[in-house]
Amino acid sequence: MASITVQSHLVLERILTIEIVRVTERAAVSAARLRGHGKDKASDQAAVDAMRRELNKLPIDGTVVIGEGEMDEAPMLFIGEQVGNKAGPKVDIAVDPLEGTVLCAKNMPGAIATLAMADAGTLLHAPDCYMDKIAIGPGYPKGTIDLDAPAEENILNLAKAKGVKPSEITAILLDRPRHAKTIEAIRSVGAAVSLISDGDVAGVIHCAEPKTGIDIYLGIGGAPEGVLAAAALRCIGGQMQCRLVIDNEALRERTLNMGIKDPKKKYEIEDMVRGDCLFAATGVTTGAMLTGVKFGKDMIETDTVVMRSVTGTVRRIVAEHRQLEKFHLD
Ligand code: FBP
Repeated sequence: MASITVQSHLVLERILTIEIVRVTERAAVSAARLRGHGKDKASDQAAVDAMRRELNKLPIDGTVVIGEGEMDEAPMLFIGEQVGNKAGPKVDIAVDPLEGTVLCAKNMPGAIATLAMADAGTLLHAPDCYMDKIAIGPGYPKGTIDLDAPAEENILNLAKAKGVKPSEITAILLDRPRHAKTIEAIRSVGAAVSLISDGDVAGVIHCAEPKTGIDIYLGIGGAPEGVLAAAALRCIGGQMQCRLVIDNEALRERTLNMGIKDPKKKYEIEDMVRGDCLFAATGVTTGAMLTGVKFGKDMIETDTVVMRSVTGTVRRIVAEHRQLEKFHLD
């Protein structure tokens, strides 16, 4: 009996790998319709609506643990919202229906629609606050990076582990004034800095994609984005360490209420994603990782990456959608 349950769960999980692609595809198409219109809130809302609609068709008993915010501030896909048709496993879901709202509004590279899914109770319930992060791709000895070490030391250790000069290392960071000292430190040992204006889920994933030329992610970004990126690295390998940035009393209390007893905890990937997971992202605008949605006369084309940690399989799904009425719900 037990083996039947395990087997059917695995079969379901394999099916869900493809099903979640539909979810990010629809969210990406809805957001992409408003690409370049300067309407960050409207494009985010369109992506949220589409993602929620598709999630509710899935055979899952899901709880949104990383979402659009607390129940009182986000009417849809709020933290704690139940999604799915209940005809399947209990799962935690982390969503960012439009990661890079400003990128989409300005039609700049790198906006994506993304989600991660894992067994219930295994994803970190992170508040919507900042998170200090460091990440590298797979193939390095454990301990190559340390969130608490100076940036220079991390670069030098990584260069040694990679067998190259520090000048052959490229670090990626969000282009924010708060990173000025870190950027200076990275450059002081001869490494290059690649700055992104937004979108650090992809920024972290780039470290595991040799074609991007990015070796290490450093700096402070959103905590929800941190959990999503950790799910991707759990699938494709790599190292990541993070710590929540809790800088006021109200946030400290909220964090405590979410069950986080030690607000200063240094999280590894396995603390943020405590079991197997699925991760998917569809391009809204074209970036280094994905091609944006293409609208043709009779066809819409989407580009999605979907990953499954059980096998480490990464699929690229370029889909041509011809039943366009399905995309005209929003
Ligand atoms: P949104 O899509 O929610 O705007 O997030 C974009 C983003 O760049 C994230 O990728 C990143 O983690 C976060 O914002 C950084 O926050 P801030 O813009 O406040 O520095």
